[in-house]
Amino acid sequence: MIETVLHADVLEIVLNSPPVNALGGALRRDLAVALRVASADDAVRAIVIRGAGKLFCGGADITEFGQVRAKPLLPDLINEIESSVKPVVAAVHGSALGGGLEVALGCHYRIAAATAKLGLPEVSLGLLPGAGGTQRLPRLVGVEAALDMIVLGAPISAMRAAEIGLVDEVVDDEVDLAGSAIAFARNVGAVRRTRDLPMDAEEQLFEKFAARHARKIDTLDAPKACIAAIRAATELPFGEGVAHERSLFAELVEGAQSKALCHAFFAERAAAKIDNLPADIALRPVRRVGVIGAGTMGGGIAMNFLSTGIAVTIVETEQAALDRGVGVIRANYGASVARGRLKAEQAEAAMSLLTPTLVFEDLADCDLVIEAVYENMEVKKQIFCRLDQVARPGAMLASNTSYLDIDEIASVTGRPQDVFGLHFFSPANVMKLVEVVRGAQTSLDIVATAMALARKVGKVPVVARVCHGFIGNRMMHPRKVEAFKLLEEGATPAQIDRVHLNFGMPMGPFQMMDLAGCDIGWHRDPERVTTILEALCAEGRWGQKTGGGFYDYDTERKASPSPVAQAIIADFRERAGIVSREISDEEITVRTIYTIVNEGAAVLEGGYAQRSSDIDAVGLYGYGWPRHTGGPMFWAEHVGFDTIVAGLEKYSEELGPDFQISPLIRHAGSSKTSLDRAKAGDGACKS
Ligand code: 3HC
Repeated sequence: MIETVLHADVLEIVLNSPPVNALGGALRRDLAVALRVASADDAVRAIVIRGAGKLFCGGADITEFGQVRAKPLLPDLINEIESSVKPVVAAVHGSALGGGLEVALGCHYRIAAATAKLGLPEVSLGLLPGAGGTQRLPRLVGVEAALDMIVLGAPISAMRAAEIGLVDEVVDDEVDLAGSAIAFARNVGAVRRTRDLPMDAEEQLFEKFAARHARKIDTLDAPKACIAAIRAATELPFGEGVAHERSLFAELVEGAQSKALCHAFFAERAAAKIDNLPADIALRPVRRVGVIGAGTMGGGIAMNFLSTGIAVTIVETEQAALDRGVGVIRANYGASVARGRLKAEQAEAAMSLLTPTLVFEDLADCDLVIEAVYENMEVKKQIFCRLDQVARPGAMLASNTSYLDIDEIASVTGRPQDVFGLHFFSPANVMKLVEVVRGAQTSLDIVATAMALARKVGKVPVVARVCHGFIGNRMMHPRKVEAFKLLEEGATPAQIDRVHLNFGMPMGPFQMMDLAGCDIGWHRDPERVTTILEALCAEGRWGQKTGGGFYDYDTERKASPSPVAQAIIADFRERAGIVSREISDEEITVRTIYTIVNEGAAVLEGGYAQRSSDIDAVGLYGYGWPRHTGGPMFWAEHVGFDTIVAGLEKYSEELGPDFQISPLIRHAGSSKTSLDRAKAGDGACKS
């Protein structure tokens, strides 16, 4: 856990607890012992604390939350570091996050490698820095910078840390860090305790900050508590401020939001794991990726690889489409440069890795080929048939289909073991979710390679099995069906969307349709009107792009309720002989949110997802499901599966005879257990 090396009069203490040097009980105990030994040893004049492996420290051990923690507790340990009469220097490389940065804040000096990141991301776990961070950071860097780091939670670079006074020295070369820190410690004068620094701030700073970030803060407990704790730092002596911070932390850690956010953290990481994967499985090398189709999807997919330094060959059938696609990619990089998110040289480097071509055979040297043409089984089969002739042996062949049967696509090739689904979400260069769809014959090393590659390009991959719509689109389908039925029965688009917005979704189903385009999949015959959507399309109301869909839009694309759309909907009801009725928000919640959960349970029950938290990851990263609820399945467990079932039963008539309540969710509800346990159980849930 802890290694110590004496370099003449400087003791180097190395935190060594893979994978992230999290400050669990054993590490805290060993660190405390090492500090006491150092302070009692006359040969030691100064101390350096650094991390082994790829980072300084990833913070408190999140798995300990909600449990009785062994002493020393982190705040006490950090107080002890700060109280040392011998200078203590933190040497930060990789990351110093959360409790890890708080340890560094307890040290008297901090030096960092130029590539290091420093942050207090507790807020993203529904917490605040609970080991003195809210009291020490503002004393060191001022209230404004502390509010940014603590309430928004984004880590900062070593350079920025030096600018604001968080680190005392930045070392260019990580390899030299330990040596530099030892030299720094040897030469440094007296101890310098952050808790002794004076503290003041203008009252308006807090109001201004809260107003500027109102949307981020409003529904969440942790950012408000973070602000309160930093305010306490400006109003109370250090000791009292720390006590206040501790009581706020204790409240948050017990709260539903923090539990859900910690679940989301682990769900993302669990999703990366493939059940029954042999540890020694060899991954296939992926040096060049081929993308078939330079449309919005194909271009977005290509950017993921280009941005990570992987060469891409992009194929189109016509020069104009190819030029348009490449133009969009270039424009997207240009926009990132303009926003300061990317350096111009980085954008250049990414573009230089792109090979646009009209020659299908140019895919021959690709290690992975992703087909991203429109959703048509026959077209996809033709492409895969051709790909089978062209692709080199062992190449991974993926379809970006959102619904279609991967096994059927694979069946036209002579190598179904190499075929799988790689379902990106739009916009593919932005959305984090990727469903890695494992066909009946897909070999395991392909799935493992795809998962690792997706992580490498910054995605959250989730393994899915073949079913219509895989995990995400299948799970969300009932929401669309019920939203339209509710509209027919008397609800308004704004009412239905409001229920979803209040729930915490970034958009309601009708706002989403207006954004994506109401005419997607429309048959383009204005005479054939069998649904409300067709009625709107027939009137040219195709969404934001035509200035109106379910809502009206002004030139800035600001939405307002549409009397025209309402009249079209009312007319449709009249023609269909539907008498409109008052619809409660509760009914909307059950029919458009509980039904998502129910379908998620059916996905799990059918074995299309490996575990219930994978379905949460899909909801969180693919559909904007509010993170502070943990995802659809975690949220449902919190609400109670029996409550979900009761709600669905209450509206069974409205849901119709085709709607089935998942036997798994019934079983989990009646036996008060989790879905995973219900599934692994005695089969009582089988229909
Ligand atoms: N506690 C417990 N486990 C942790 C952990 C933590 N703080 N941070 C990471 N892990 C685990 C992960 O769950 C994962 O486990 P697995 O291999 O079994 O799935 C493993 O460590 C590796 O994690 P990653 O896959 O995320 O590794 P990366 O190299 O991609 O990222 C990281 C490293 C940037 C440190 C990232 O893990 C991370 O962001 N960790 C959380 C940081 C954080 O939020 N710290 C604050 C904790 S709360 C706190 O400190 C409270 C204090 O104020 C009192």
